[in-house]
Amino acid sequence: MRFGRTEKFLADTAAGHPVRAAFGTNPPGAEAAPSPDAINVANTSVVSHGGELMTLWEGGSATRMDAQTLATKGLKVWSPDYAGMPFSAHPKIEPDGSLWNFGVTSSQGLLSIYRVKASGELAQAVTIKVPEMSMVHDFAVTEQHLVFLLPPLVFDRARADAGETFLDSHVWKPQLGMRVLLLHKDRLQAPRWFELPAGFVFHIGNACEDRGVIRLDHICSPSAWNATTALKQLMKGQYEPREHPSVGLVELDLQSGRARQSLLPLVAEFPRVDPRVVGRRYAQVFAADRLDAGDRPGFNGVMRLDVGSGARDVFRYGADVMVEEHVFVPDPAGSGREAVGWLLGTALDLPRRQMLFSVFDAQHLADGPIVQGVLPRVMPLGLHGIFVPA
Ligand SMILES: [Fe+2]
Repeated sequence: MRFGRTEKFLADTAAGHPVRAAFGTNPPGAEAAPSPDAINVANTSVVSHGGELMTLWEGGSATRMDAQTLATKGLKVWSPDYAGMPFSAHPKIEPDGSLWNFGVTSSQGLLSIYRVKASGELAQAVTIKVPEMSMVHDFAVTEQHLVFLLPPLVFDRARADAGETFLDSHVWKPQLGMRVLLLHKDRLQAPRWFELPAGFVFHIGNACEDRGVIRLDHICSPSAWNATTALKQLMKGQYEPREHPSVGLVELDLQSGRARQSLLPLVAEFPRVDPRVVGRRYAQVFAADRLDAGDRPGFNGVMRLDVGSGARDVFRYGADVMVEEHVFVPDPAGSGREAVGWLLGTALDLPRRQMLFSVFDAQHLADGPIVQGVLPRVMPLGLHGIFVPA
């Protein structure tokens, strides 16, 4: 395990205490950050693409890492024009190996789109202006479109100028609803808009389109309370189970311009799909699950959800185990059928004070792990991960 040696990590380490701002925290007497990359913590996810391993943070550049030693190699520059522009933490790699990503420049209301060839070479970068820019963490691709869900948590320049943290520079404006921004891959400068009921979203599992209808699944909360308030309370050791995220199934009718959403009665986060079906027809979504967790924060199970039928295959680790994101790995010798492979993931076993690593047969989660081990040390709970074959 290694921490990425970002500019912020080096500055904070040299000072012996945090001196640069973070997502929701401005340390007392924080140094001015001349650019987003001065506070880039490269801590949200990882992508392996075009022969490079990069750690990702949604406010700034991707950070290049050595896949063998985990040494930090510096910031990724896709093109001179886009040096230092944000490159978000949820890029989508399509079955042909091409990568799409976006970045939000909140202070200027800009949304940048990146299209990267399978080789790792930038094919196209475009930036458009978005009114009332939201906090956008994830997006989806289909065969022809990019889909953005814009929750009504809107950046307020005046708050940022007054010294609020990035998080506290956002205002909840439910009157905007959840705006859906749709871009055709060949017409990135020509947005189409749809509207859903107000809600907050971090993650989208996948999307696909069929006969003029785009279908997607996402993790939907009634409001941004978890993002704006509950996370801060958790940092102080307090937990109030007020709102739980559920799965929202969305349909966008391209002909009528109408959007529909249904919410499933379950609690979930960290949706993942088989990488072979990204942007293509799919039914199976893996996610962290919360089942009878009582007053414990977070998740304590994993599930495979059939978004067509609603059927679930669930494994519950236990009431006192905190489950992190689990990652699906296709079986290369398998049938090629969707979601045939393994599900890998870590979980913190609180009574035993151990970090578990489990491997499931992805088609039989309820049977429990086929292999489970204990990691040599307990790691800090994190956000996202990937599997890279050695
Ligand atoms: Fe995320």
